[in-house]
Amino acid sequence: YLVDKGNHRHFMEKEIYEQPEVISHALGHYINFIDNRVVPVSDGIDFAKVPSLAISACGTAYLAGLIGKYWFERYARLPVEIDVASEFRYREIPLSPQSAALFISQSGETADTLASLRYCKEHGLKIGAVVNVRESTIARESDAVFPILAGPEIGVASTKAFTCQLAVLAALAIGAGKARGTVSDEEEQALVRSLAEMPRIMGQVLNSVQPKIEILSRELSKCRDVLYLGRGTSFPLAMEGALKLKEISYIHAEGYAAGELKHGPIALIDENMPVIVIAPHDRFFDKTVSNMQEVAARGGRIILITDERGAAVSKLDTMHTIVLPDVDEIIAPMIFSLPVQLLAYHTAVFMGTDVDQPRNLAKSVTVE
Ligand code: G6P
Repeated sequence: YLVDKGNHRHFMEKEIYEQPEVISHALGHYINFIDNRVVPVSDGIDFAKVPSLAISACGTAYLAGLIGKYWFERYARLPVEIDVASEFRYREIPLSPQSAALFISQSGETADTLASLRYCKEHGLKIGAVVNVRESTIARESDAVFPILAGPEIGVASTKAFTCQLAVLAALAIGAGKARGTVSDEEEQALVRSLAEMPRIMGQVLNSVQPKIEILSRELSKCRDVLYLGRGTSFPLAMEGALKLKEISYIHAEGYAAGELKHGPIALIDENMPVIVIAPHDRFFDKTVSNMQEVAARGGRIILITDERGAAVSKLDTMHTIVLPDVDEIIAPMIFSLPVQLLAYHTAVFMGTDVDQPRNLAKSVTVE
């Protein structure tokens, strides 16, 4: 990789647009596209035998881990304990030495994540590292290294590392399901075929959403607060959307599970706080639509990020709707990440912040 901005204004923009290419590298490492199967994990962790999985990470990598939890539980029927590394390391979690632990880190050097890894190692767990930097400390201290192959990420706000972490976690969860007999041959092939479509669909989305995102970002740049909502894997993605916005545009944003709306955030709804709803037409869609009706009834302005099926049936009076192509459930988090990243990026550009080097943040946090 040549580490320059190419034709882009910022590294972050370049890294967003690189995603179809790097995802394809990452997938190539974990998937055999000739017979549409996941390459089995051969050493370090025996997913067929572990009774549970612990996952720990910080920041964006933690939110990738949360999405991973949904997949490991759903496809591999493997219970997952997950926490941010700064809590995980001190919580005195009862851990079984038969279990395995995954640490997700772009840099492989984050101090709290490394401390959580060492805690698990002391308790006899097998350690897996989902890292971008293969020569990192976290990779070196692990039994199994799962590289995300995103190439160097320079922008402090993580983008391509996030979607590559997701691609790797999806492949690992499918592989674990295969090893545990909870994913059939047919299901494996169907899931892998969906993953294989990702680079093409990402390219299509990146080529089409920009004009709409720019209009929307101009409006967001005038706001003080933004609420992001989602259900299922769209809930961690809502938190990621809020994190990205905070990090680079300095707009206060919160990501909430849509079902929690009535337990607090609904009190904040007014015409000044846009509500961004991530809602692919999945099994949660109707429930999320009723949450949107609650927002609309209180004068809230909704920005809906959905797919073609969702847009056709929602009939909601939204301020804006971003419509993505219909995609299978397993790849929705990666595809829906793109408008979420671009919204944060363009909002920050309108605000005139230092997008690649936001104030007070560091790319890699090697102190506690
Ligand atoms: C910092 C960065 C984030 C990153 C987090 C974890 O806060 O600004 O972008 O998600 O650290 O970093 P890691 O290298 O462990 O993924």
